[in-house]
Amino acid sequence: MVPNCFHPLGARATAARSPSAKVVGPASVRDPQLSLHMAFQDAGFRSATKELDVLPVEGCSFLDETVLFHRPTGSLIRADLVIRACPRDHFTWRWAARLTGCWETVRPPPDVKSATKPNDATARSIDRMAALPLTRILVAHADPIDDSPSDTLLEAWRFVRTP
Ligand SMILES: [Fe+2]
Repeated sequence: MVPNCFHPLGARATAARSPSAKVVGPASVRDPQLSLHMAFQDAGFRSATKELDVLPVEGCSFLDETVLFHRPTGSLIRADLVIRACPRDHFTWRWAARLTGCWETVRPPPDVKSATKPNDATARSIDRMAALPLTRILVAHADPIDDSPSDTLLEAWRFVRTP
């Protein structure tokens, strides 16, 4: 799965090692040499992953991320919806996180935040996720977020609310 337009890293190599695998991702993926077999909204993906709800982050084309909700565990799964650095991270990320406000604080990635203006579509997408019975948020650049995950998500993305 390619979670958003930023993260095709490794997808081509993984697909080459597993020729029968299907590559799923957004059409906006930034790797012209990567062949996608289907999108997250396609019936083929949905029928193969019945335990997952597919939740696109609307109004945020800079990232074009699709979030998955695993109903049996209450897990919201994705890559860059939010990030947070901790003492176990590489020193470069610890340093960058202190500069960008992500040190031990759940935030959207700074570049995503600066490229996303307040808009109702994104706010609705975040509300839809936060209304789910979340037990945790699992993302690429943070430990599992299991302390008030819905409230944490709402606070991190509060900047998209229109006045
Ligand atoms: Fe990332």
